[in-house]
Amino acid sequence: MTAGMTAGMGDGATEGIRALSWRGVIEEYREFLPVTASTPVISLLEGGTPLLEAPRLSARVGARVLLKIEGANPTGSFKDRGMTMAISKAVEDGAKAVVCASTGNTSASAAAFSARAGLTCAVLIPEGHIALGKLAQALIHGAKVLQLRGNFDQALDIVRALGEQAPVTVVNSVNPYRIEGQKSGAFEVVDQLGDAPDVHCIPVGNAGNITAYWKGYLEFKEAGRSTRLPRMLGFQAAGAAPIVAGHVIEHPETVATAIRIGNPASWYGATSAASESGGGIAAVTDDEILEAYRFLATEESVFCEPASAASVAGLLKTGLPDGLGPGSTVVCVLTGHGLKDPDIAISQISVPTVVDADLGAVLHELQL
Ligand code: F0G
Repeated sequence: MTAGMTAGMGDGATEGIRALSWRGVIEEYREFLPVTASTPVISLLEGGTPLLEAPRLSARVGARVLLKIEGANPTGSFKDRGMTMAISKAVEDGAKAVVCASTGNTSASAAAFSARAGLTCAVLIPEGHIALGKLAQALIHGAKVLQLRGNFDQALDIVRALGEQAPVTVVNSVNPYRIEGQKSGAFEVVDQLGDAPDVHCIPVGNAGNITAYWKGYLEFKEAGRSTRLPRMLGFQAAGAAPIVAGHVIEHPETVATAIRIGNPASWYGATSAASESGGGIAAVTDDEILEAYRFLATEESVFCEPASAASVAGLLKTGLPDGLGPGSTVVCVLTGHGLKDPDIAISQISVPTVVDADLGAVLHELQL
């Protein structure tokens, strides 16, 4: 769950001790966050996720590539980083209820943190387009779940209106505290590497995360905690790539349901991150996403969800930016855990053969 845990078990290495005493995003990075001594900290000990070397991916790309494993967060996605801030501030401000639109992960995280804080949580999700695990999470944590006959963009429009008309706090990334918490991902990458990477690859949906990472990298450089800034490469799914197209997509479609978004709330944040950093935003097809998804599982032993694999698919497609060679370092954020979307995983492999409970039959089938 937390970085370096195995390393520290036998020999008492500092890394292991630190991992075991990880205090969650707000306590670890308090000085960079809009909290005071009286802010009630609602935490599930999120953050502190592994930054894993990816040797086979590195060989394919021709540079050192590392994976930031955000599926290791308490609810299985990076959303927990922003949610600890949004829910803590909601409680501080006296809120009794929160609401979000979601393609699944935000709702899972909001539901879990709300339960912890004793808040009512309402979530609007697009009917039929949310991974099963995420739906299960929102339900089991006790959220009021509404399945909308519509897509994420329509759900977010309604949620924004609810925020104005009802006594409820919106915890989508239009809530600035979400971005504040999520920027901790960049802080951790710098702390783990000792400096910022040369390139940072990230999937883009509603565009809050790329906005947050860029903010985090800028703040750590400003504070003297890093000496450089990465080029930010954001990747949208080809059927849901409004930023690449330069206009809103009315009917976004992609196998990566987490980023099935046609009108990102942080559009400007994404384009600023890309242009200020000398990076860019590009599109990857569903086939490219699924190829990267299978590659990560079979070659790097990391099971992420399809949307997460967009960062690696994009890196494989576009290669290193001009001027960068084998000595460079690339970080790809794998935003969510593969177990959230078992249906896609099963659709990518052949269904296991059924055999009689008989040694001979098993030996015959396995051909070892
Ligand atoms: N990866 C995963 C697994 C996600 O769930 C999301 C967004 C993204 C990438 C894109 O991040 O929106 O900050 O650009 N999920 C949101 C949700 C929309 O409702 O869970 P983004």
